[in-house]
Amino acid sequence: MLTVPGPAVTLSDGVVLLRGEQPTDIDDMVSGCADPLTAQWVPLPAPYGPDDARAWLALRETDEQWWSWPMWAITTPPAPRWSGSIGLHPDGAGAAEVGYLVAPWARGDRLAERSLRLVCAFAFGTLGLQVVTWRAYVGNEASRRVAQQVGFDIPDHAFARWGAHRGERRDCWLGTLTPEALARRGRLPDAADPTDRALTAREVQVLDLMTRGRTNQEIADDLGISTNTVKNHVRSVLEKLSARSRAEAVVVGLRRGLTTLPD
Ligand SMILES: CC(C)(COP(=O)(O)OP(=O)(O)OC[C@H]1O[C@@H](n2cnc3c(N)ncnc32)[C@H](O)[C@@H]1OP(=O)(O)O)[C@@H](O)C(=O)NCCC(=O)NCCS
Repeated sequence: MLTVPGPAVTLSDGVVLLRGEQPTDIDDMVSGCADPLTAQWVPLPAPYGPDDARAWLALRETDEQWWSWPMWAITTPPAPRWSGSIGLHPDGAGAAEVGYLVAPWARGDRLAERSLRLVCAFAFGTLGLQVVTWRAYVGNEASRRVAQQVGFDIPDHAFARWGAHRGERRDCWLGTLTPEALARRGRLPDAADPTDRALTAREVQVLDLMTRGRTNQEIADDLGISTNTVKNHVRSVLEKLSARSRAEAVVVGLRRGLTTLPD
């Protein structure tokens, strides 16, 4: 997970990049949100126009507003184009509901699954939440599949009239994800490293501290070693995990069970 200074937190797994939504996204937001599948499953204004997109952006003009309801544009570098939205709605008591949509032109590449995994790791790691909740109107199989792939526990039960959709009550599926379930789901099935690619005990410690968002200086202080030594360990971790960034190394480490999310 990559955190950069600025009005919003940027997250990346090396394929998707989640960044703050911007006024230059408005045309794409209008095209993406006007799509019939989105209108069917997400209670957005319909028809959806530029004023709706502007009103949405205005909800997060300050850092404080963004942190109270974090929301990201889904992009796939090097293309900077808005290709969907994902966000968390915290309840102030240890939980947040997640919501997402992928634009029609970007569907079919599991971008929602990747984005959801990153956002849930952020919810547990950075926000310190205990649970992320998900809900969808009964029949939204694509959304259900995405959530299940990330590890959400979704019973078959339909909760009658749980959701409001443009004046109509609709039956919903509900799901929950805990930090433990996210870590379990991310683990690769017995994909043992070749010995020469296995991390040393010290590299595992460094990876663990990277997962906790520590800087090189903080890792050096924690382990009582120099920052240069930390840099060498980080370089070696990235190389062994075939990761292009610290964020990607953390995601690979979580998937392989080499590290876990902070409690
Ligand atoms: C849900 C959504 C975000 C998924 O987008 P995506 O990341 O492009 O998802 P994909 O097309 O890669 O599909 C994800 C999985 O769902 C499956 N899927 C897609 N459509 C499906 C359908 N109609 N029925 C059953 N499974 C479906 C795919 O096969 C894939 O599973 P797999 O990885 O096992 O093959 C996208 O469909 C969307 O934006 N829908 C409208 C908005 C919405 O419903 N948001 C969620 C509200 S709760």
